[in-house]
Amino acid sequence: MSRPPLRLGILISGRGSNMEAIARQCREGRLNARVVAVLCDRPGAAGLHSARALGIDTHLIPWQGPTQRPAFEHAVDSVLAAATADVIVLAGFMRILSPQFVAARAGRILNIHPSLLPKYTGLHTHRRVLEAGERKHGASVHFVTRELDGGPLVLQSRIEVNPGETEESLSARVQATEHIIYPRVIGWLADGRLVWRQERPWLDGRPLDEPLVEDFSADRN
Ligand code: GRF
Repeated sequence: MSRPPLRLGILISGRGSNMEAIARQCREGRLNARVVAVLCDRPGAAGLHSARALGIDTHLIPWQGPTQRPAFEHAVDSVLAAATADVIVLAGFMRILSPQFVAARAGRILNIHPSLLPKYTGLHTHRRVLEAGERKHGASVHFVTRELDGGPLVLQSRIEVNPGETEESLSARVQATEHIIYPRVIGWLADGRLVWRQERPWLDGRPLDEPLVEDFSADRN
């Protein structure tokens, strides 16, 4: 029996290029999933416009500061419940969700982070990678837990840092890989290959103790 499409609620704060990559794959039938809502905390974010242009239901829930987090999360929850979202996809969403919010949705929130976690959690990863003289860099798709950028990893993209690379060029190259690995993980989830069991991810019936790594080293530009 075929599975019903996985219903995705995507949270963004900015450009929304990952959201767009996922939404396009859904629309093209390459993923057994559907973006049922895009939520954004920043008025004027480019991603809001691109989501609307794709005909996706969009919701602006302005961030009013950390003291208003409960009201913010309540509003997010209402939208996602009304849209009957199965999974929350964080795609360039710049706010930190509370431990309570995350714990209540264990195994149902994914994030993408622009580094080879556990290295370089937090902000400005590309700059810090260049400053440290790293030869390898990439992005990580992981389940979200209460540890910031610390939830179980599923899939990483790996690239080589080119000589003379700038923060901009590195960011663009990493982002290009994000648009491949994030839809891939969502596809695994949608197909029932990736599941959350015993507080950790399993892929194809085996616990994922180490992330899978997709090597993009051959793509040097
Ligand atoms: C990506 O680099 C992602 O890894 C990070 O924020 C950026 C979002 O980009 N979490 P976009 O909004 O999807 O274009």
